[in-house]
Amino acid sequence: MLDVVVLVSGGGTNLQAIIDAVEAGSITNTRITGVISNNKNAYALERAKKHGIANRCISPKKFASREAFNDKFIEAIDEWKPDLIVLAGFLVVIPPAMIEKYRNRIINIHPSLIPSFCGTGFYGLKVHEAALARGVKVVGATVHFVDEGTDTGPIILQKAVEVEQGDTPEVLQKRVMEQAEWKILPHAIDLIANGKVSVCDGKAVISL
Ligand code: GRF
Repeated sequence: MLDVVVLVSGGGTNLQAIIDAVEAGSITNTRITGVISNNKNAYALERAKKHGIANRCISPKKFASREAFNDKFIEAIDEWKPDLIVLAGFLVVIPPAMIEKYRNRIINIHPSLIPSFCGTGFYGLKVHEAALARGVKVVGATVHFVDEGTDTGPIILQKAVEVEQGDTPEVLQKRVMEQAEWKILPHAIDLIANGKVSVCDGKAVISL
């Protein structure tokens, strides 16, 4: 059984997609043991509560220094002894000590086809604004392992989504979520839970 802790900052639609997939049996051998938000008003926390999932808020703002927050944050994660940590729209930088400790056991969903529109400053709507400004015709989403860089870890799954005439960043963001993020994030968790993902020479390999 894969014990998963999900980290969130906002609405939690990706968290919801994971919860729904576990409940529907399309993610197998998995239970969500906890949800952590850095933002106490995140609707994601309500979603966890509604499904009886343990949840808590730990905000960097409540600590005197980033180091003090990082220590407490890692301690909170460790308490739930996760096999996998899922960043589902989590906007806080992951402490290097946590990346080291949970090497290839932290995954992130990014709303573009990496290496396009990723790295520092590319988050949320900014990704979609940049894609529309460049005039690309295909966008998408990526699930990847988290390493020390920003969006640089081994890529597990990607899915393409077409840009349509007249798209606004908001419309495009919604389509990328519906057609890509909510599908590949649960799928990646299911693959990991069933031992089908390994990392070799810095690249994720899927065995089917
Ligand atoms: C998603 O677009 C995700 O890719 C990201 O932030 C958004 C989170 O949405 N980086 P939600 O909280 O899962 O609804």
